Amino acid sequence: MTNEVLVQADHLCKYFKLGGGRMLHAVEDVNLEIHRGETLGLVGESGCGKSTLGRTLMGIYKPTKGKLVYGGKEIDLTNKKERFAFAKKAQIIFQDPYASLDPRMTVGSIIAEGMEIHGMYDEKKRQERVAELLDIVGLNREHANRFPHEFSGGQRQRIGIARALAIEPEFIVCDEPISALDVSIQAQVINLLHELQEKMGLTYLFIAHDLNIVKYISDRIAVMYLGSVVELATSDELYANTLHPYSKALLSAVPIPDPHKEAQKHRQIIDGDVPSPINKPKGCAFSSRCPQACDKCRQSAPELREIRPGHFVACHLVEG
Ligand SMILES: Nc1ncnc2c1ncn2[C@@H]1O[C@H](COP(=O)(O)OP(=O)(O)OP(=O)(O)O)[C@@H](O)[C@H]1O
Ligand SMILES: [Mg+2]
Repeated sequence: MTNEVLVQADHLCKYFKLGGGRMLHAVEDVNLEIHRGETLGLVGESGCGKSTLGRTLMGIYKPTKGKLVYGGKEIDLTNKKERFAFAKKAQIIFQDPYASLDPRMTVGSIIAEGMEIHGMYDEKKRQERVAELLDIVGLNREHANRFPHEFSGGQRQRIGIARALAIEPEFIVCDEPISALDVSIQAQVINLLHELQEKMGLTYLFIAHDLNIVKYISDRIAVMYLGSVVELATSDELYANTLHPYSKALLSAVPIPDPHKEAQKHRQIIDGDVPSPINKPKGCAFSSRCPQACDKCRQSAPELREIRPGHFVACHLVEG
């Protein structure tokens, strides 16, 4: 990991228009930086906006408000040329390796498509690259002529990874890339992603539900709640020194492999449901479920503040 900021969200918001003039605030005022070569883990309950943030950071969605800054430069996604150039730098690996590969295309053409679109190499060289990429992700060169349905979930995810790598991107959003896979295959795909990162200096935003995997793979972790980042720190610091009440509850739900420690652990249960992103509560988004919430929390939304070096928290109750 370097200190160079590759991707930056600057007061980034993504809202979805619903019928009846309603607006769903999927991502709300997110500020974060992803450093070149690091893995930033992104965790939070289902529906909190992880995928939407990931997609906004790699240009699938245009921010409703705020800026997406890449390599120190704001990306204007309304500019076709800029959008095209950015599309070559940022890629995504999807959760569902069944739905994300076109069943009518051969594996070779799926992998080569991005290179074609971006005018990379001639046809012969592209075929060579396809063969190389299949090697890199642990598949056979002969697989290029087959169709996605002939492969297992783990193999399909490898095809998805080869497709993402084909255009030689710098930044990859991994949106729950192993959630749909058997446990026995998960570790192989994680190790592959890790090796590729080392070899190619890739930068990852790694979205996941499984907090043990996130801890294992991430340099730093951002915790999201109802569209906002509530805590951000290095993995070790976040686990050793959890500060936000929501992160505390989330992390306390992670099973510890040692049964003795697990039995002694204090598990926090959060009462109540996540409020709707359509009618968000005033003040801190977590205040309706937070056991410590006071009047200030219900009145004003806390900003993400650096409480200790590199450890950011959005909570009025955490002393700086
Ligand atoms: N295209 C869309 N149109 C309208 N609402 C959307 C759209 N995509 C997502 N949402 C809503 O935005 C919010 C955030 O969704 P998102 O998929 O980003 O959550 P997530 O954290 O990735 O959840 P999960 O862990 O289940 O994948 C949810 O309330 C979701 O219903
Ligand atoms: Mg998601």
